[in-house]
Amino acid sequence: MIINGIGMSEYTKTKQNHLKIILDVHIRISNCIIRKNQNFRKEFCYIDTNSGPGKYSYKGQEIMGSPMVFLNSSIKFNGQVHAFFIDENYDSINALRKISAIGFKMPKYDVRCFTGKNYEILGDLEEARAIPRILGIVYVDPSGTIYADQPKNQVTYFEILSLLSEIPTFSIVDFLMNVSCSNIKRVRSCSLTKRIPTLRQAIEGIKGKKYWLIREPYARHQWTFILGTNWYGFPEFEGIGLYHVRSKRGNEILEELNLTKSEMEE
Ligand SMILES: C[S@@+](CC[C@H](N)C(=O)[O-])C[C@H]1O[C@@H](n2cnc3c(N)ncnc32)[C@H](O)[C@@H]1O
Repeated sequence: MIINGIGMSEYTKTKQNHLKIILDVHIRISNCIIRKNQNFRKEFCYIDTNSGPGKYSYKGQEIMGSPMVFLNSSIKFNGQVHAFFIDENYDSINALRKISAIGFKMPKYDVRCFTGKNYEILGDLEEARAIPRILGIVYVDPSGTIYADQPKNQVTYFEILSLLSEIPTFSIVDFLMNVSCSNIKRVRSCSLTKRIPTLRQAIEGIKGKKYWLIREPYARHQWTFILGTNWYGFPEFEGIGLYHVRSKRGNEILEELNLTKSEMEE
C-alpha cells in the first residue's frame, strides 16, 4: 500500500522495531567510544535520505517514522546531535518539521529538514567535506526501489553511498539500508532497465566501507537490512538475525539474496 510515496505493509512494524534496536545499540556504543577516547568528537550525525513525515498510520495503528525513531534513541546520546532529514515530498517534510520541533528544540539538537531529491541535496553537502570525521549513521529507506531518480533510472542508492563513503567525514559514519532483494533481482532480469550489479557486487562496490552485516529476509519482497561499517568488531544482532557477511550465516543469507533462480542454475 502506498500513502504519500510511502510503501507500507505488514513488514513496516518489524522494520521500525529493528531500526530502533540497531540505533539504540549504535548510540550506546558511540557513547562508550567517546568516553574512552578523547580524539572522538562528542557529536553524532544522522542522515535520513528518505525520511517520510515522521509518523503515519497503517490499518488504524500509529507508526513512528524513522526520523522520530532516531530522535527518540538519540536522547541517550551524550553530546551534540546533528540530524538531517531529506524527502522529496513537500507535505511529508512539512509534517516532519512540525513534529520534530516538539521536544527536540534544546541546544543538544541540530535538526534540519530538506525538501528535494536526496542525491542532489547530498551532493550539495559540500560543507560536510570540511567537517572532521564524526560518528553517525546514514539511513537509506526507499520504498523498495534501488533508484533515487525514478523514472530516469540512472542513479542507484548504492552509487550514492559509494560516493559518500569516499568522503573522509563519513569514514566512521555507518551506512544502513532497508532493501528489497526481490526488487533488485526483478530489475536485474529486466532487459529494459540499466544493468545493475548483484547485491554482493553492489556492497563490494562501496569501497569506503570494509565490513557488511546483513539481516534475515522478510516477506515475499525479501526485505533485508544491510549495514556497512569500517569497524571490524561491529556486533552482530542475533536477536533480529543481523550477521556479518563474513560469518557462516551472514554469507548464506547474502548468497540466498544475491542471485535470481535462473542465475543460480546457470
Ligand atoms: C519508505 S518511505 C520512507 C519511510 C521512512 N524512512 C520511515 O521509516 O518512516 C520512502 C520515502 O522516500 C521518499 N523519496 C523517494 N525518492 C526520493 C528521492 N530521490 N529523494 C528524496 N526522497 C525520496 C518518498 O517521498 C518517501 O517518503
